[in-house]
Amino acid sequence: MKTSPSIPSQFHGPGASIEVTDVSKTFQRRGEHLRVLDRISLEAAAGEFVSIIGPSGCGKSTLFNILAGLESADGGKVKVNDAVATGASEHFAYKPQKDLLFPWRRVLDNATLGLEVQGMKKKEARQLVEPLIEKFGLTGFEHCYPYELSGGMRQRVALLRTVVQGRQIVLLDEPFGALDYLTRTELQLWLSSMWEQFRWTVVLVTHDVPEALLLSDRVYVLGNRPANVCCVLDVDLPRPRGLECIGTPRFAELEEVLLNNLRDPDKAHRFTSIGSAQSIVDGDVDG
Ligand SMILES: Nc1ncnc2c1ncn2[C@@H]1O[C@H](COP(=O)(O)OP(=O)(O)OP(=O)(O)O)[C@@H](O)[C@H]1O
Ligand SMILES: [Mg+2]
Repeated sequence: MKTSPSIPSQFHGPGASIEVTDVSKTFQRRGEHLRVLDRISLEAAAGEFVSIIGPSGCGKSTLFNILAGLESADGGKVKVNDAVATGASEHFAYKPQKDLLFPWRRVLDNATLGLEVQGMKKKEARQLVEPLIEKFGLTGFEHCYPYELSGGMRQRVALLRTVVQGRQIVLLDEPFGALDYLTRTELQLWLSSMWEQFRWTVVLVTHDVPEALLLSDRVYVLGNRPANVCCVLDVDLPRPRGLECIGTPRFAELEEVLLNNLRDPDKAHRFTSIGSAQSIVDGDVDG
């Protein structure tokens, strides 16, 4: 895919590096403490794509809410480009778990919303968004309302609204979770090619192991609540990746590592960057 000269420069990466160290969170609910995050640590270099997978309810969205400044952490540190980030929302473009399109706003107006919230005039915001409509597969639908779109198109509008903000780090919380298999696969490949082209720093939450492997440089597996990182897997599959990589033996090896860690996080190997996936499967790497 060639870069069109009309694509705004703020849209291009590489993004910033992020380092999350020992972030913890406990909610107070009806007089009870619910410890959700237990010293989570992870990192992404500028322009890297990392994924987080973990059981439902373990705290993945809570972590994103903390990074986006919507919740506060009880402890730990977040650094962006090596500087401590406090109330870090200016660094992050966040696509929450639901697409959150406003039903009364047309595609273009939904896509410009994040920029408008940042204080940009609508006309200026449209000038940034319009050149990207084609790349996001929305040509001809600019003036449609969300109810007139397919699920995949709604997700693309929400992604467009997220990345056009030109923030340094893109947080995507299960962007394709609600889609059928074919649409999901198509969007995974599309996101992969967009990332290859623009090199934002991306942190993706997903329940879909093949999706994490297809897209990521590294995958963090979280255990049950209170969540901690129970495995770190470097994904050494060659890029660019297409569907053909899903059928390779290496893909199957890495998939097995992730599934084993998800099934039994207590036996997982902590902080193990993988030279050989097989050694993890066999359990002969120090935990
Ligand atoms: N604002 C809140 N107040 C109290 N409890 C909360 C709050 N937000 C989340 N929780 C609780 O924290 C836990 C983790 O929630 P979270 O949404 O982060 O999970 P998740 O890993 O994203 O799950 P899923 O994969 O199902 O999206 C849940 O038990 C949830 O009920
Ligand atoms: Mg969630």
